[in-house]
Amino acid sequence: MTAAIYPYVLTLHVLGATVWAGGHLVLSLSVVPKALRENDPTVISEFEHLYERLGIPALIVQLVTGFWMAHFLLENVYDLFSFSNRTNTLVSTKLILMLITVVLAIDARLRVIPKLDAGRLRSLAYHVYAVTAVAVVFVVIGVSIRMPFPFP
Ligand code: HEM
Repeated sequence: MTAAIYPYVLTLHVLGATVWAGGHLVLSLSVVPKALRENDPTVISEFEHLYERLGIPALIVQLVTGFWMAHFLLENVYDLFSFSNRTNTLVSTKLILMLITVVLAIDARLRVIPKLDAGRLRSLAYHVYAVTAVAVVFVVIGVSIRMPFPFP
């Protein structure tokens, strides 16, 4: 049994996914190529400055709504990371991906961005590509929690 507000929470979760995955796809496919072409890191920092205000809250919403939904779908929420059934494996993988995202973001914030110049631009670009790839995997795993696709 799920709660009556479940569809609203799921809607918030999917809205967060559009902001997080969509924003990073725009960053990877439009903003980063422009910055590399012009060898100008400010193209990325200007976008990030504007996007951050929406992107970080969206990721927090994902985490909170995701956990909330998971406690209905999992037989035992304290059993996370046991990989004992399909849903448990998919939700646990999402949490591992969240950890990877946070580590990449902290590394970019503390190590790459403070000394950002044309030379370190490529390093930042690789961070952005990695976070984007993880965001797309988040969406695919999210969809497959209820659909037998792509993991039957
Ligand atoms: C650690 C954080 C997260 C947890 C615990 C989590 C958990 C879940 C759960 C339990 C569902 C299944 C909902 C259902 O089918 O009723 C779901 C669906 C989904 N999630 Fe996440 N999620 C997290 C983060 C993310 C992120 C960051 C994204 C995308 C950037 C994302 C994208 C999706 C999508 C697209 C769905 C499919 C919704 C549907 O079935 O219509 N999730 N997530």
